[in-house]
Amino acid sequence: MDEKTIIVTGGAGFIGSNFVYYMLKKYPNYRIICLDALTYAGNLSTLKKAMENENFRFVKGDIRDRELVERLFEEEKPDIVVNFAAESHVDRSIENPQLFLETNIMGPEVLMDACKKYGIKRYHQVSTDEVYGDLPLDRPDLFFTEKTNLHASSPYSASKASADLVTLAYHRTYGLPVSISRCSNNYGPYHFPEKLIPLMIINALHDKPLPVYGDGLNVRDWLYVEDHCKAIDLIIHDENSVGEVYNVGGHNEMANIDIVKLILKELGKPETLITYVKDRKGHDRRYAIDPTKITTRLGWEPETKFENGIVKTIKWYLDHKDWWEEIISGDYQNYYQKMYGDK
Ligand code: NAD
Ligand code: DAU
Repeated sequence: MDEKTIIVTGGAGFIGSNFVYYMLKKYPNYRIICLDALTYAGNLSTLKKAMENENFRFVKGDIRDRELVERLFEEEKPDIVVNFAAESHVDRSIENPQLFLETNIMGPEVLMDACKKYGIKRYHQVSTDEVYGDLPLDRPDLFFTEKTNLHASSPYSASKASADLVTLAYHRTYGLPVSISRCSNNYGPYHFPEKLIPLMIINALHDKPLPVYGDGLNVRDWLYVEDHCKAIDLIIHDENSVGEVYNVGGHNEMANIDIVKLILKELGKPETLITYVKDRKGHDRRYAIDPTKITTRLGWEPETKFENGIVKTIKWYLDHKDWWEEIISGDYQNYYQKMYGDK
């Protein structure tokens, strides 16, 4: 395998950090540069082990900072850029849409301009299944394919859909070699405590109420984070994937309430902790991915079954209390109070 330099933006967050570790292990001769602004969602402690690897470099910076981005491209001459950097939490986008539009649309634009200027071989935009909107609960025969119309519901998903359109426009207009992956909900190590699975694990451990939105019947299609990393690895190394969009998901649809009950069971906590709270505004009902394209074209298959992945994940949170205790001890408490105080 020849040597490559890859810039991973947002590599101090949940999926980006898992991708950094995945790539450092799989490609010992690659240079991996993480560019991350270290927002509330980015944690340097997550990258502690990566810092010990001489093939890894961390750069603190904002993907919207054109000067900094160009300087980094000039210095590192990357072959590939994988953009994970984004504001990623739907509930926060409902409170502050502007930040989401600025980061999630203008950020990719700055990165792609630099890719164009420096002749980068691939720009990969990490997108989401949320760009397709939602599916009804009473039509289990329906799935998102790459041909499904974009139909975003939240300011977050609208910003991601916009970025996808800009990415495809850069391919068509400037011939930029881009690719896009639209993945379903990830779970696994380093998932920020504001998201459903870690939030429920942490609240249960503290015998705090588990806030389930609405009727708890909303369905998400869960994928173990490493399987997402494998999908991106396949796409960025496939020359025929330039200009292509791939859906990524493992046919693992589950209602929120069933996930919450499973977590309580695994932790030996009572279901009386479950508290139904006010629903999320515009709450998407069901996501379900049809991954036929990536399976048939690139041979991708999810490897971790949910029943094993969720047990591994719960164990990870039990074994890494120091990681999340530090996060929830700071500003997170204000966030929690603001978002859940009057629900
Ligand atoms: P995350 O919120 O855990 O991490 C985001 C990272 O981006 C953080 O490290 C943060 O510091 C960094 N960041 C934010 N704004 C930045 C900026 N302006 N400049 C540089 N860095 C910045 O997010 P995640 O859950 O790991 O998601 C990563 C990507 O994957 C996002 O693009 C998201 O839309 C997409 N995605 C997430 C999921 C999921 O289930 N979490 C599923 C599909 C797609
Ligand atoms: O589908 C991919 C998307 O998955 C990514 O693009 C997003 O970045 C990621 O955050 C995730 O979005 P969701 O909105 O699906 O994830 P979240 O963990 O916020 O919520 C999952 C479900 O659980 C959703 O139906 C809302 C519900 N929920 C969430 C929280 C935080 C609750 O019932 N209670 C909660 O406290």
